Amino acid sequence: MVERLNSSEREAVLEALGIDQWRLRSVAPITNAPTTDGPDDADESDRATTDTQPAEVLIESDAPVIDWSLLRHNVKRCTKCRLHETRTQAVFGVGAESAQMMVVGEAPGAEEDRRGEPFVGRAGQMLDAMLKAIGIERSTVFIANVIKCRPPQNRDPRADEVEACTDYLEAQIRHVNPDVILAVGRVAAQHLLGSTETLGRLRVQRDLHAYGVPVLVTYHPAYLLRTPVQKARAWEDLKRLRQMIGAVQ
Ligand code: URA
Repeated sequence: MVERLNSSEREAVLEALGIDQWRLRSVAPITNAPTTDGPDDADESDRATTDTQPAEVLIESDAPVIDWSLLRHNVKRCTKCRLHETRTQAVFGVGAESAQMMVVGEAPGAEEDRRGEPFVGRAGQMLDAMLKAIGIERSTVFIANVIKCRPPQNRDPRADEVEACTDYLEAQIRHVNPDVILAVGRVAAQHLLGSTETLGRLRVQRDLHAYGVPVLVTYHPAYLLRTPVQKARAWEDLKRLRQMIGAVQ
């Protein structure tokens, strides 16, 4: 899955990410540099329509075989929490069902709510550039969020909303069965790892797992857009991700 970039492609991608080689070399060792994370919202506009169809709850977290079409159907029709009242549509996730890598974000923003696909707004472009920087095409990974419906005004998901959605993400992870999960941002990392540690602490930890799958934590792309100075640390995370993928190829 990891595609080799030639040096000019690589320079172009790093430039798109806003990473210059000089700054990379000047970064302090990541193990000595715990950091904090900001809110992970992508944009501010409101959704336009609602979907109030009832959902059948057919997913059991210990089910041995996941029926992918049924899972998708249930997510699309879900009414398990209040977010169904304000969404345009639920955002199931996108990518190969048998992807080697999964990316898990927080929740759909306005653009994702409108288009029905995760990470298609500005944060999505940044995510694509991050993956591209280590030779990974968006189309080769499976991308999902902790919660499938957009919280109004992109507020943080509430505990009951995360709880209502958790079986869906677990079923997706068990079905895709990736070699590695990239958790972007505090909400995804804390949820997957069952932790209340800050993102700064989680991203420097090793041997993290969720549902038996190795997890690597990095900054949310929306946070990197707001805080470009952290891109150099994100680049360190991405290089480690590339090593983890290389190790299982
Ligand atoms: N932020 C997320 O966490 N997920 C998306 O799909 C878009 C923005």
